[in-house]
Amino acid sequence: MMDHLRDTDPRIFEAVVAEARRQSGGLELIASENFVSRAVLEAMGTVLTNKYAEGLPGKRYYGGCEHVDVAEDLARSRAQELFAAEHANVQPHSGAQANMAAYFAFLEPGDKILGMSLSHGGHLTHGSPVNFSGRIFNVVSYGVGDDDGVIDYDALREQAHAERPKLIIAGASAYPRIIDFETFADIAREVDARLVVDMAHIAGLVATGHHPSPVPWADVVTTTTHKTLRGPRGGLLLCREEHAKAIDKAVFPFTQGGPLMHIIAAKAVALLEAQKPEFKTYSGQVVANAAALAGGLSERGFHLVSGGTDNHLMLVDLRPSHPELTGKDAEAALEAAGMTVNKNTVPGETRSPFVTSGLRIGTPALTTRGMKEDDMGRIAGWIARVLEQPGDADTIAAVRGEVGELCAAFPLYADLAVG
Ligand SMILES: Cc1ncc(COP(=O)(O)O)c(C=O)c1O
Repeated sequence: MMDHLRDTDPRIFEAVVAEARRQSGGLELIASENFVSRAVLEAMGTVLTNKYAEGLPGKRYYGGCEHVDVAEDLARSRAQELFAAEHANVQPHSGAQANMAAYFAFLEPGDKILGMSLSHGGHLTHGSPVNFSGRIFNVVSYGVGDDDGVIDYDALREQAHAERPKLIIAGASAYPRIIDFETFADIAREVDARLVVDMAHIAGLVATGHHPSPVPWADVVTTTTHKTLRGPRGGLLLCREEHAKAIDKAVFPFTQGGPLMHIIAAKAVALLEAQKPEFKTYSGQVVANAAALAGGLSERGFHLVSGGTDNHLMLVDLRPSHPELTGKDAEAALEAAGMTVNKNTVPGETRSPFVTSGLRIGTPALTTRGMKEDDMGRIAGWIARVLEQPGDADTIAAVRGEVGELCAAFPLYADLAVG
């Protein structure tokens, strides 16, 4: 494998091999990551990367697009089928760009948007001041209740009526509960706002019926393709036919130039995989594993925001159980023990976003490796052991050894990891 790369650029080759080893040798618990299939990986490494194809299938600004048109048409129709959507645009290079296109399909600079606050689980592109969304639009933020960690729909409704935003964005990067899209749609209708749903984190669960779909309720649905959906890195937009033109124009020529045709082909492959019964089983296992891991952590005295999870992730608030331990230090200790998680702010956060008091933990990647509830129980035990004594090198080394044994039992990209 990868002979040409090894010969041409040994340093990049070594970095790739080392990363393959890192992925297979540790436990990937970052909620937004996953492991693509070999078919998706192969599609990304094809000659489709050479082709400029500005425009849409059948309406390109370049010649020679007949084969990439096949790939994009397949990706579009599979996305429409999978999510029961009238229209799909598969060109956004990323989730952030899908969101930018969704906003600019409806808004002008200075318009008001209502989005979930970053510290309550929203994404940067939902109105953070350091992101284009916060710089270009007038942002008001909603969040979760301090006591229960669940979106406060009554407060959201009140805020929407008081602020009269032009667009409401629902969806999150760190929210462990089912989102009530119907209520979001009711509120948007009451105040005459557009509703955009960013389902990036839960797209795979939506595709398989493990989370209610936003498609019937939203004007536009945006997503990434690389999280629970288990495709290549990228974005995707879904909408009703009435918004199709506005959405397509907001992607090209507004936010992007030429689409990444090799990635679009890989999106098509992932969308085909997501239509198979095995993917439904996989998504169900993601949710079951998250419930098992959440249960294992709760039993060991950890406080979970909202008390648990309905989806693929959980948010640990370390303050009640480990008041002195920051998210940053917890992340580092777990990393040393072979478990990759990310520090995360929690509702009512008192520390800086670089330090935090929480951890976000998810099960999509480990479930792809084939791990099940029993394995989650062991992992909960290891997390508890490490965080009990985060500075203890012996504990970390002992857990690292056990983590390595579990990983070896669930091989990943075995031929890539040896180069
Ligand atoms: C809810 C949500 N939307 C959008 C994005 C942005 O996706 P990308 O990193 O592909 O720009 C993310 C990424 O984490 C996300 O969680």
